[in-house]
Formats: sequence, C-alpha cells, structure tokens
Amino acid sequence: MKTDFIKNKVKALFIDEIYAYFLPYRKYFVYGMLFLVLSGSLQLSLPLLLGKSVNLSFNPGTFTDTNTLMKHLGILIGMLILQFSFTFVRNYYFLLFSEKSVGTLKKDLFHKYLSYPLPFHNKNKVGDMLSVITNDVMVVRELYSSQFSDLLYSTFILIFCTGILISINLKLSLILLIVFPAIIYLASFFGKKIRKTSKETQSLYAGSNSVIEEDLHQIRSIKIFGKERKEVSLFARLTEDIIQKTIHNSLFRSFFSLSSSFIIIAALIVILWYACIMVVKNEIVIADLVTFIVNMIFIINSFSTITQFFGNLERSRGATVRLVELLNEKVETEDFVNSSPMDFQHTIEFKNISLSYGEADVKVLDGLNLEIKKGEKVAIVGPNGSGKSSLLNLLLRLYTPTGGTVEIDGVNINQIGLANYRSKFGVVSQDLELFNRSVIDNIRYGTETIDDSRLESVLAHSNVIDFINDLPEKEHTKVGKNGSCLSGGQKQRVSLARALYKNADIMILDEATSALDSSLEESIKANLDSALSDKTLIFVTHKFSLIENFDKIIVLDSGKISAIGTHQQLLQLNKTYATLYHLQNRPVTIKKVA
Ligand SMILES: Nc1ncnc2c1ncn2[C@@H]1O[C@H](COP(=O)(O)OP(=O)(O)O)[C@@H](O)[C@H]1O
Ligand SMILES: [Mg+2]
Repeated sequence: MKTDFIKNKVKALFIDEIYAYFLPYRKYFVYGMLFLVLSGSLQLSLPLLLGKSVNLSFNPGTFTDTNTLMKHLGILIGMLILQFSFTFVRNYYFLLFSEKSVGTLKKDLFHKYLSYPLPFHNKNKVGDMLSVITNDVMVVRELYSSQFSDLLYSTFILIFCTGILISINLKLSLILLIVFPAIIYLASFFGKKIRKTSKETQSLYAGSNSVIEEDLHQIRSIKIFGKERKEVSLFARLTEDIIQKTIHNSLFRSFFSLSSSFIIIAALIVILWYACIMVVKNEIVIADLVTFIVNMIFIINSFSTITQFFGNLERSRGATVRLVELLNEKVETEDFVNSSPMDFQHTIEFKNISLSYGEADVKVLDGLNLEIKKGEKVAIVGPNGSGKSSLLNLLLRLYTPTGGTVEIDGVNINQIGLANYRSKFGVVSQDLELFNRSVIDNIRYGTETIDDSRLESVLAHSNVIDFINDLPEKEHTKVGKNGSCLSGGQKQRVSLARALYKNADIMILDEATSALDSSLEESIKANLDSALSDKTLIFVTHKFSLIENFDKIIVLDSGKISAIGTHQQLLQLNKTYATLYHLQNRPVTIKKVA
C-alpha cells in the first residue's frame, strides 16, 4: 500500500504534458541544485565547527589559545559569507528555471486558447480560462521549482543525517525511524481530504471569476434591469463558500502538520528520556548526544518539508489536471499536413450539408445543397433562426458540418490551410466585435499592408467618412470596449470598412447594414455595388429592396432552402417571397385606434 502511495505521488508529479515545459530548462535546475547542496553542506558543517570551538572552550589546556579560537571565528564568518553567496546564486538559477518554463507554458496555453475552435469557446467561461492561465499556472510553477527543489534537498539531508545518527547510536535512531511510517499514513489520510477541499475551492474560485467576468461584461444590462444587488449577493454567496472551503482546507492541513509534529515531538521525548538513561549507564558520551540532537533537528526540519511537499502536491493536483485538460483540447486544423493552397476560380459548393450544434439532435441545417459561382452576388433571406448565420459559419470553418461537405473548386475546404483559407474572406458578422483601439486600427486590423489610397476609398464606400471628423480625435479616437463609444450604425460602418479594407475575394455580410437608417443603407448598398463589382458577395439581409439586382436569392426556412432564383423569378414563383416583399414595400398607412 505504501509503495502504491508513493508511486501515485510520483505519477502526480511527472505529468508528461506539464513536465515537458520544464524539461528544456533542466540545466538551470541542476545548477540551482548544485548550489543548494553546496550551501546546504556548509550549513551542515557549521554545527560541527561550532562543536569543535565549544570543545576548545571546554578543554582547559587550550582555553587560553585565543589564536585558534580567532581562526575558528574567521573560518565561521568566511563560511557564512560563502553560504549566503551560494544561496544567492541558487535562487538566481531556480528563478531562471521557473520563469522560463512557466513563460513558455503561458505563451503556449494562450496560443492554444486562440487556436481552439469556436465550440470550445462557447462551452468554456472566460473566467475559468483566465483562472487557469493565472492561478493554476502559478501553482504548478511553485510545485516544480521551489517546492520540488526543497523536496530533493530535504531528502538529501534526511538520508545524510540519518546516516550520521545511525553511526552514532543505532538504538536511538531506531526510535526515530519508526516515526516515518506513521507520518506517511497520516499524509495519505489527510491527503484525500486536502485534495477534495482544494478541488472544490479551485472550482469555486473559477466560478466567482466567471461571475466577475460576465458581470463586468454585461454591466449595461445589470444597470438597466437594476440587478446590482442581486449580482453582488450572488458573488457574496460564492465568496462565503470559498471562505468556508478554504478554512476546511487549512484545518485539514493544520491537523496534518500538527499531528505529524506531535508524533515527532513524542519521539523526541522518548529519545531524550532513553538517552538520559544511556548517559547515566555510560552507554553514550555527552558530545555524541549533542551531535545526535542537532542532527535530529535537521532531520525533523527536512521531514516536515517533505510532508509539506506532499500536502502541496495534493493541493496542486486540481490545477495540474485542469491545465492538462486544457492543453489537450483539440485545436483547429491549422497545421493540416498536406493542406492545399486556396485558389478560388470557379465555385463554392455546399453538398448535402447538415449541422447540429451540441448533443441534441436538432438539425439547424438539413440536407442543404447550394452552388455559388465566382463573382456572383448572392443574397440569403429567411426568418430568424432559419440557419443563415450557421451556413456562413460553416463556410468560414468556424464550425464543422455534421454531415456533407463544403467544397471550393472541388476541394473539400477542410483540406485547405486554415490561415490561407480565411485570408480569402472579408466578413462583417452579425455580432460585431471591435477592439478597444482607434477607429483606424480597427479598420486595419485584418491587413498587414498599409495602403492610404485604399483606406481613403474604403472610408468613403463604408460612409465612415460621414462621422469620423466629428469624433474627438478623428480616426484616432478609441472606440471603447467592443465599440461602446460608437452608435450601432457607426459600429457597423467601421466593421464594413474593416472588411472592405482587407480586399478579399469573397465578401460575407451578415445583416451588416441592419442598424443603418434606410437612406444610409441604400447609399452604402450603391457603394458596395461599385466596390465589390469583381468580388463574390454573400449578403444576408431582411431588407428585400436591397437585393433586387442580385444574381441569386436563396430563401432559407428551418435549415432548408425553400426557394432559389432572381428577385423577378421569386416574385412570380414563390408566394412567401412575394408576400414578404410586398409587405415591406407597401406604402405605410397608420391606422388610428379609436
Ligand atoms: N453557437 C450555437 N450553439 C447552439 N445553437 C446555435 C448556435 N448558433 C445558432 N444556434 C441555433 O441555430 C439556429 C439557427 O441560428 P442562425 O444560423 O443564427 O439563424 P439566423 O442567422 O438565420 O437567424 C437557431 O435555432 C439557433 O438557436
Ligand atoms: Mg443570423
């Protein structure tokens, strides 16, 4: 059982995924250990030297030899200085070791976060992810650097001093040795409890982080609905739970360290009592007893460091597990080995596409077939929730279809290098996302090249030019968190400018003009006609008057295409389309309620 216990501990420590980050920097760890042992040996030999000096003092013949005493003092001071220098160098190397490894781990984790597909991000709360990359990473850092080196060093001291004890007096040493199994038993007993409460505390922390994150994000809704108190009380409850769990956890750890200290002290008393008897019987000399006791104190210190380490290992297991889980998530197929380059010449084809988000068997898209030719202007219309945005999500490879394939010139889009693939799209999505940077930085966001003449024409085509001069710092005005300093229509125009500036082959505009007033919408539509004359355009809208000149209009209903054709064809052949069109375009009459 005991070997199992230790085996489990070792397994918990050397988790490949995490260990791998520390391995490349192991040389710093080895240097650190070297200096740790050097400074430790000096520390160990100090009592010996002290003992020698004390011996000199007690020896009447040499008591007057002040020169030798001074020499001893000089050596002592020299050793102290040396020990401090070694400790300094040791700290430096351990710092290098932990900072470099953890730096790489953090960078990698962040890279992975950004590489994980959208479904991962929909599922995971930002607060949780934040808590892993900050708290959990720090827990692992402590474990692998300072705590692990303490463990090694204490083990070294333990073995070394136990050797000395045994060489001095076997009987006395045996009393101390029987203490160890008792403490290991305690460690395994309390370890379980510590692990359980630590896990619960960490998940409560993650939960409260999520509340903070979401509430700060939703601050407008909270204010509008007057829910400040409610949210605060939710947070307070979580904090109370955290306090409770933390206290439990600390209590278990205190019980553990107190009870192991108790066992050790009890052993110490027994040893002292037994040693006194031995001294009386002349079985041991006083000088040996003193060395014995000094060494015993070293042993007890290192033993408590070792048990503390196992306590910490329990505590950090939750953090390690979460880290490994996150590191092992599946990334988007960015580095597809045999990926083909994207060269869109002829057609985009949706072949028998179906899509269900989540586990539920609800088909958002159902057996859909569609062909879009290069240069075509295609509109998608249909009621809310009919699957318009989902269809675009598939084309952008933000989600993967549950069935069927999307092909470009006959090549499955999943075979195309992802970065290269996405570079071909200019997108204004329905849920706009702007960075809290300047207007100009947002517009240039997707493009590396700086092209002032293109920028000028883009500002004009997206009608950003109409309002940019009224902003406090013109184009350098920061747009606020997710564009909150701009009006809805201004945000849409900046997003449109960003997509246009990218000058990509395929433009996807998902209800991109919905927040604009009608005259602005018409004006931008006319601008787009000229700006995108040679591009492929996929345009989702609820406004039928904007799409009268489109090559193809797709009417989507409950995830299926219910009709396809030009405006004129649909007007004649599709009743739903015709009804909706006329409803939108009839002269407005306002009935007065009597
Ligand atoms: N990320 C998602 N996870 C789960 N369900 C989703 C997700 N996005 C959309 N849906 C669901 O898919 C259906 C189609 O949504 P969507 O494609 O956005 O419709 P549209 O753009 O036509 O209004 C809706 O019923 C919606 O609830
Ligand atoms: Mg939509």
